[in-house]
Amino acid sequence: MFNPENFVKEKIGWIREEVGDRIAVAAVSGGVDSTTTAVLGFRALGEKLKIIFLDDGLMREGESETVVNVFRKMGMDVAIFNVQEKFFEALKGKIDPEEKRKIFRETFYQVLAEIAKSFGAECLLQGTIAADIVETVKRVKTQHNVLEQVGINPMEKYGFKVIEPLKELYKHQVREVAKILGLPEEICNKRPFPGPGLAIRVLGEVTPEKIEIVRKATKIVEEETKKISCFQSFAVLLNDKATGVSENGERIYGNIIALRVVRSKDALTAKINKIPYKTLEKIVKRILKEVPNVVRVVYDLTNKPPATIEWE
Ligand code: XMP
Repeated sequence: MFNPENFVKEKIGWIREEVGDRIAVAAVSGGVDSTTTAVLGFRALGEKLKIIFLDDGLMREGESETVVNVFRKMGMDVAIFNVQEKFFEALKGKIDPEEKRKIFRETFYQVLAEIAKSFGAECLLQGTIAADIVETVKRVKTQHNVLEQVGINPMEKYGFKVIEPLKELYKHQVREVAKILGLPEEICNKRPFPGPGLAIRVLGEVTPEKIEIVRKATKIVEEETKKISCFQSFAVLLNDKATGVSENGERIYGNIIALRVVRSKDALTAKINKIPYKTLEKIVKRILKEVPNVVRVVYDLTNKPPATIEWE
């Protein structure tokens, strides 16, 4: 039986031993995995741990402010780095989902290694969890934080020692650890968000404009499903257009948004969530009103398998 108290005690000692006298870096994303990892790291290493947030331009709305506030409340500092241009440049013209994932991963680790070296760090603390590894080993899709061979992390290529304290845990267990560490409820219960972020929720080529559309739509979906018990709820911008008609009768050729709301325990399988029709109607109404140039909203009714949770 998993005991989160023992886990915390054991991992703090383990991190201390692994890092020794060196400086370590933890890159946080605002999610429960990376926040839990950083807090465990801080308990183990104190000021020898540098916590950073890479603003890649592919996150949820307001994520960098949220992250800074959450850590500040817990008495920790986060250094923010705006690296948006690097990501948009690297992803330019790329349409294949696996290529997009691999480019995201390469850019992420290149940028992270550069920043970590500037702090004199030799170790990286990372919030990889069991599901990330399982999906990569099964070769379902490239996770941003795991290479195809189990146990190998992209940062090792840059000479860093990678420490992954949550590697054996599934999401629900990470949430238990987060509670024991006293993380705020908004983090403990935060719904998962993929490493490559909105880049894999814009089907096909990623541009800042398309990211903005899906970011606005995602915010609406998340707000309207806040009270619904589900694993993840989000919007996807399709790589296609559809015909619509404006209020004054003119033809419009605009974007299509798909909604995905799923139940899951460990992300390895998922079932669609039968959310109330009223909620769906409200989401659609808000998206059409608040997100520019969307003419159609559809609801994804596919379980995993056969569909994965994310569309790419
Ligand atoms: P899929 O789409 O494979 O997603 O059914 C399973 C869970 O993993 C999240 N996901 C990722 N998380 N890096 C991550 O940290 C990634 O590259 C990645 N891809 C998918 C997804 O949001 C879902 O919770």
